[in-house]
Amino acid sequence: MNNFKIRKASKKDTNEILDLLYQLQRPRPKTNAESLAFRKQIHGYLDEKDEIILVAEQSSKVVGLVSMMFLPRLNRTKLELYIPELVVSEDHRKSGIGKSLIESCIHMAKKKKCFRIRLESGNQRKDAHLFYEKIGFEQSALSYTMMI
Ligand SMILES: CC(C)(COP(=O)(O)OP(=O)(O)OC[C@H]1O[C@@H](n2cnc3c(N)ncnc32)[C@H](O)[C@@H]1OP(=O)(O)O)[C@@H](O)C(=O)NCCC(=O)NCCS
Repeated sequence: MNNFKIRKASKKDTNEILDLLYQLQRPRPKTNAESLAFRKQIHGYLDEKDEIILVAEQSSKVVGLVSMMFLPRLNRTKLELYIPELVVSEDHRKSGIGKSLIESCIHMAKKKKCFRIRLESGNQRKDAHLFYEKIGFEQSALSYTMMI
């Protein structure tokens, strides 16, 4: 099934973007102020030239998203494309949407002459690891975090 299209996100997608982020187990807002802050964050992302959100749309519904950041590294002349978020709505998985979103990232990375694409995936996301390996990513690092 390939009747979806990939396009840049716009402000009118905000609610569907938030719904998808909850499916990624991101926190739901606890207050109105927090809800506004989340929305502002998404809108800020849409206004930045080095930050991009692409969405997959099927039957006028947003069913997947990928976010991207173009990052400079100290000893590299080229940028790195970092992918903070990738999620496909639960009932639309395994129909090529995730792969197609990543292919769009690869296309943009090549256009910007990036030297690589990088992302992190939690230890618990075993399915996602299988997906990344299936589409050609290599596991190349451990990720360390410290909650503040
Ligand atoms: C990971 C995720 C984005 C994959 O998206 P998807 O649209 O279901 O994946 P696709 O249908 O494009 O799959 C592409 C290929 O990977 C394979 N694949 C996908 N999920 C797989 C899994 N769990 N196990 C094995 N292979 C898998 C598909 O079979 C397909 O192979 P093919 O090209 O030979 O047919 C989606 O499952 C998801 O949103 N998961 C929850 C959120 C998440 O974990 N995001 C990643 C955060 S790091």
